[in-house]
This record gives sequence, structure tokens and C-alpha cells, in this order.
Amino acid sequence: MSVINVAILGFGTVGQGVCEAIETHQDRLKEALGKEVKVRAILIKDPTKKREINPSIKVTTEFKDILEIPDLHVIFEAIVGEEPCYTYLSEAIEKGIHIVTANKAMFAKYGPDLLEKALNHGVSVGFEATTAGGIPVIGTIRQLIKVNEIRSIQGILNGTSNFILSQMRKQGLSFEAALKQSQEKGYAEADPTSDIEGYDAFYKLLILSQTAFGRQPEWKDVRRKGITHLTAEWLQAAESFRLRFKHVGSLERDGFNRIKGEVKPILVHDTHPFYGVEDVENAVSLKGSLVGRVTLLGPGAGKRPTGSAMVEDFLSLIQGKYTDSPESTVHNEEIREGSSGQWVLRVRANEEYQSWITLFTLKDRIQLGSHLYVFVEGKKEDIEALLQSQEQIQAVSILDEIPLENEVKEGVAVY
Ligand code: NAP
Ligand code: HSE
Repeated sequence: MSVINVAILGFGTVGQGVCEAIETHQDRLKEALGKEVKVRAILIKDPTKKREINPSIKVTTEFKDILEIPDLHVIFEAIVGEEPCYTYLSEAIEKGIHIVTANKAMFAKYGPDLLEKALNHGVSVGFEATTAGGIPVIGTIRQLIKVNEIRSIQGILNGTSNFILSQMRKQGLSFEAALKQSQEKGYAEADPTSDIEGYDAFYKLLILSQTAFGRQPEWKDVRRKGITHLTAEWLQAAESFRLRFKHVGSLERDGFNRIKGEVKPILVHDTHPFYGVEDVENAVSLKGSLVGRVTLLGPGAGKRPTGSAMVEDFLSLIQGKYTDSPESTVHNEEIREGSSGQWVLRVRANEEYQSWITLFTLKDRIQLGSHLYVFVEGKKEDIEALLQSQEQIQAVSILDEIPLENEVKEGVAVY
């Protein structure tokens, strides 16, 4: 039986996940490919770390050793940051080696360039694992856009922040304790700022945009907010209204082919498909012109789900299932924008709110400590005017239930 030779760059959470997946699912891979998959080498940075690696696999700190492996077919990349990853992968492509990457910080920036290079050198690039962990969202989009136009995408795209918000709410953990747990479980990035400040979700959103629309919004125009300002009190207040905070990335393409992107925490109703997405789970909801809404849920980070995504990707790539999508267009049709929304406002308990509450429909209110939380429905313009005139008020908008046929109503979070 002939062999497919592969190498793995990085042997942290993800690199180990890939190695284990190949080892434990060798029989299934053989059945699907008719060939044995052999890990020939692993690239690491720190040669002093103790690791459990099969002695038949070469372990090296030099990328040139990887490129010198005879008949190397595929490189799995699971290291950190833009460089040296981009340079390594460019060199691999130029040598005719297929690549499978999990590195979203690198791929959001250099993905278009790597895909073009790959096309010129007759190889493929798998990047399923860059976005939403084990959920096959890239494959789903690639399949859908063969016929559908994708209009909008919303997603809980960062497992670490979803885990932190769930643990703070359910277990009463502090932000720091929940973050520590997510690091211990291998969910967080080497620098967790990327997770908790929304950069990681931002990179994933750009990759989704590239895949669904063939291009990205201007990076500077994508508003990004993380979860670090959310307190246990906010989470508790939301729960009393049967609402939950979720960190959501959203992309919308309008009738003039403009792409609007945003990453921020938002409140969702208990009827919303994102409400029950807990701990390290992610969710992605896509709206296609023919299919309507498709919502995918699954594990968003960790060794096994990410290893699974990379090895699935590898299989599709070897079977020649990947073709790169050109920029897709959208029919020039006006999209209805709703200006009404639901909001939770926080004011000081002794604040006079009767004067402005008449602007809105009051749905509920509770007092927690020295703060009053007011759940209202009203126009975005009224909320904005109120927030400008009343410095003491904070507001968070609510993501309306995703309708099957109509556009999602606009909701802008104001803090
Ligand atoms: P990790 O646990 O920190 O492991 C990183 C690995 O990369 C380590 O083995 C490290 O080597 C190696 N490395 C770092 N810089 C290197 C360099 N310049 N040359 C050679 N090796 C280098 O990280 P991870 O969680 O596995 O994540 C890896 C990548 O996958 C990241 O880009 C991340 O964003 C992405 N990702 C992670 C997850 C997840 O659930 N963790 C999910 C999807 C995608 P040493 O062992 O010698 O230090
Ligand atoms: N740190 C990332 C997360 C890993 O928590 O979602 C998966 O991309």
C-alpha cells in the first residue's frame, strides 16, 4: 500500500490533536484514501520540553528539515502568530506541498495570498480549523455558495469567551478563574487577550467573509468589542429577564454588495438558537438566498475537535474536493432595515427614569444592588439620544430572534 507523507508544525494542543487523530483513525483514513498516512516529522520551538512522540517521527526546530523530507505531500500548520508561519507555508506551497492550517491570525491576513499562490502551484489549502473549531462551517459555506448567495452570517466564534461567560453565570466563577480554566483546557490562545478582547472572533469573521463573499470588509470598519467589561451583575440581570450574553460576530452584505462586520457581546432571548450554546461551544448561522437560515452548533476549540477539523480537511483536500471560490456577487436588491429593537438599560437605582421611559415600551425591570435594570423596546434613535443626554445609563441591545425568511433586524449595542 502506498503512503501519504505528512508533517506537523507545532505540537501544542492542536498539533497533538492532529497527531492523535491520524494515529487513532488510521484505519478509517486508509479505507477512505486507499493509502496509509505517515507523520514523518514535527516542528517545535523549544527542544528542551518533554514530549511523548513516537520515536519513528523526526522532531526538529528547523523548518528546512521539514522541506527536505522526500515526497512530503501535506503540512499541517498549528503554530502561533503571523510569522514565521506565513513564510513557512509560502515556501511549502512553492515546493508543491498541500497545506492545512488552524492559524486564523495568520490566515485572516495572508489567506487570500496563500490561496492564490496555491492555485498557481497546483496545490490546495485547507483552513476549516481556523474557524469555529470542530464545526464544519467552511465546508458548509463552500458547498452552499455553489448555488446560494450568502446574505448574512452571525456566529459565536470564540470558545474561550463563551466558556468564560457560561462559567461566570452558571458556577459563579470570577472572570479570572474562568479564564484560567479555559487555559488549562487548551481553549485559549497563547496570549488570551486575543480571545477576551474579540480579536480571535474578528479574524474568524474575516475568514468567513472571504469564504462566503470572496472578499473581506475593510478591517478598520469592523467594530470589535470583547467581554472584559461584562460583570457578574450584568450576567445576573440578563438571566432575570430570560436573556443571556453571547459574544457574537456578524456579517451582512447589503443590496449594493457592501459588507458590514461587527464583533461584540449581545443579549439573546431564551427562544434564540444561540441562547443554549454553552461553555466551549460555538454556533454559526448563515442565511442563503435559496436555503434560508442554516444554523450549525458544535465544539469551538480544544484538541479533539480541532484535530478532527484538520484531518477532515486533509481528507477532502487529498480527495480533490476543494476548488477555490471567486468573489461572489449579490443581486442589487434593497434590504429592509428595522430601526426598532429591544434593550436592557442600567441606571442608578435612585435615578429618575419615569420621564424618559415613556419613549419606550417597558417590558420588565429589576433592581440589583445600587442599580436598576430596565428591559425596554423602542427605536434605536431614541436610545441613542437618551444615551447622549444621560451619562449614567448603559445599554445593551438584544439580537432579535433569527427569522427564517425576513432579514434580521438591526441592533446596535451602545455602551
Ligand atoms: P499551543 O498549545 O500554544 O502550541 C503551539 C505550538 O507551536 C507549540 O508546540 C510550540 O512549540 C509551537 N511553536 C510556536 N512558535 C513556533 C515557531 N516559531 N516554530 C516552531 N514551532 C513553534 O497552541 P495551540 O492551542 O495548539 O494553537 C496552535 C494554532 O492553532 C494557533 O494558531 C491557534 O490560534 C490555532 N487554533 C487553536 C485551537 C485550540 O483549541 N487551541 C483551535 C483552533 C485553532 P513548543 O512546544 O516548542 O513551545
Ligand atoms: N482560542 C480559540 C477559541 C481557539 O477559544 O475559540 C479556537 O479557535
